Amino acid sequence: MTNADRSSVAGDILNYLFTNFVNFVQRFITPFGVRIRRARRRRNVAPPSESLRARLAELGIDVDRIWWGPMTLFPSKIEFLMHEIEAKPPRLLLEVGSGSSTPVLAALAEHHGFEIVSLENHVGSARYVREMLGAGVGASRVKLIVAGFRRRWRPDGSGYWWYAVDLGEVGRLFDMVVVDGPMGALVGRDGALPEIQPYLAPQHRIYLDDANRAHEKACIASWQAQFPGLLVERPALCRGMAKLRIQFV
Ligand SMILES: C[S@@+](CC[C@H](N)C(=O)[O-])C[C@H]1O[C@@H](n2cnc3c(N)ncnc32)[C@H](O)[C@@H]1O
Repeated sequence: MTNADRSSVAGDILNYLFTNFVNFVQRFITPFGVRIRRARRRRNVAPPSESLRARLAELGIDVDRIWWGPMTLFPSKIEFLMHEIEAKPPRLLLEVGSGSSTPVLAALAEHHGFEIVSLENHVGSARYVREMLGAGVGASRVKLIVAGFRRRWRPDGSGYWWYAVDLGEVGRLFDMVVVDGPMGALVGRDGALPEIQPYLAPQHRIYLDDANRAHEKACIASWQAQFPGLLVERPALCRGMAKLRIQFV
């Protein structure tokens, strides 16, 4: 066995252990955090408004089947994304972090004729998404990819974790990306732009949720250093969401 083989085996073991650690935490520990955050969320975040419920129903979504828990996109953010999609429907949308947002995006995909690739690591979340999609509206437009994590490296030698997936296999470029995963505190989202950039259409938009949190702010700062000319917008309509665009030279 050569040194390269040995380091590749060590890398595989590390990836395997990390993926299983994350899934263990999400399965057995995150639910406690969810219960605590649910109470806080009830105080801070309104449930879907009547107008959003009506719009979702028009799209063919059973609003009461959807879990509006603390780990899902806030209804106001769903509303904002709906507005962005309706104003300019994408052709191929990449969703990073599946969940309650996925059936909503699927229904929009059906109405506006686009496709979705959705990445998820957590087996329980993927199961929920499959159940929610069922044979419902837009299900056939979603390619749900369930993948573990692998260690990746920046040109400066620093590392990050990202889904063990080859987006090149999709064979088409993404013109809209919604980054709402993986869990920031557990895995980190700093890999999003370096990993997605090679598969972006020249005209694209990237939406980063939780952009006001310290981790996501650090991600944006690091991406600004890696991608000079990165455009960062803070839409007035949606606090906590950043809209990004990489300028290709
Ligand atoms: C902020 S959530 C958002 C997921 C999705 N975009 C939505 O709106 O529901 C990001 C990640 O948290 C994890 N997650 C969501 N709900 C979970 C739960 N109840 N237990 C454990 N992990 C969860 C999933 O891995 C998911 O990709």
